[in-house]
Amino acid sequence: MSQPIPAKSTHEQPPVHIAMIMDGNGRWAAQRGLPRLAGHRAGTENLRRVIKACANQGIQYLTIYAFSTENWGRPSEEVEGLMHILSEFIDSELEELHRSGVQIRHIGRIDRMDEKIRAKVERAVQITRENQRLILCVAWNYGGRDEIVYAVQRLIEEGRKAEEIDGDLIAQHLFTAGIPDPDLIIRTSGEMRTSNFLTWQSAYSEWYFTPILWPDFDEQELQKALEDFNQRDRRFGRLSTSGC
Ligand code: FPP
Repeated sequence: MSQPIPAKSTHEQPPVHIAMIMDGNGRWAAQRGLPRLAGHRAGTENLRRVIKACANQGIQYLTIYAFSTENWGRPSEEVEGLMHILSEFIDSELEELHRSGVQIRHIGRIDRMDEKIRAKVERAVQITRENQRLILCVAWNYGGRDEIVYAVQRLIEEGRKAEEIDGDLIAQHLFTAGIPDPDLIIRTSGEMRTSNFLTWQSAYSEWYFTPILWPDFDEQELQKALEDFNQRDRRFGRLSTSGC
């Protein structure tokens, strides 16, 4: 039986930006004697539901970690399967996402993706660019360290001087330029690692780890994460408002 949801706190301030590490698809499939790709398909079904739930909760930005720079090291069948799932997802969901006001952004090395998928992703970004209800950032071929390396390379290419470089300038050269840092990062499946996700941006994010496997992370589980977030005292290295 799932745990009761705690009563809402009176000082609640919903997160503007939630990021998610959608972990546990493989184990979900193994528990059912299914191939790993069946887990990724169930995870994709769940993603549809979570996008809707976040939009309904008034979340402004949702970033999902869907394919990391390290995921290329998985068996080629799984890598190809995931690429196929992304392609199918865009084909089947783009119209509905666009209609419901979702803007799609991509973060990661699009330049190193297959030409056909790259074109599909770029088209989805282009079509939805004016939408404002929910900004969905899809981290695909994304790595936090790689993102910082790429930003530094671009700063050097631009001929920037050492004294010009500060945190704001680096942030402007990340894939997430213009997107606020995530307030809350959720990782499913019980793993407690950050796995090269939003390395720069997560400096003051609140982390929420749950044992629930991604395909089972439903609206009620999202609500629990939001309630937990509401109880956090975010100090950003300073003292809390009570002075403690
Ligand atoms: C991690 O679980 C999950 C992934 C590497 C892929 C996540 C992808 C999706 C949910 C679907 C595709 C997304 C889009 C945008 C269409 P895991 O396989 O590492 O699980 P395990 O740790 O149990 O093996």
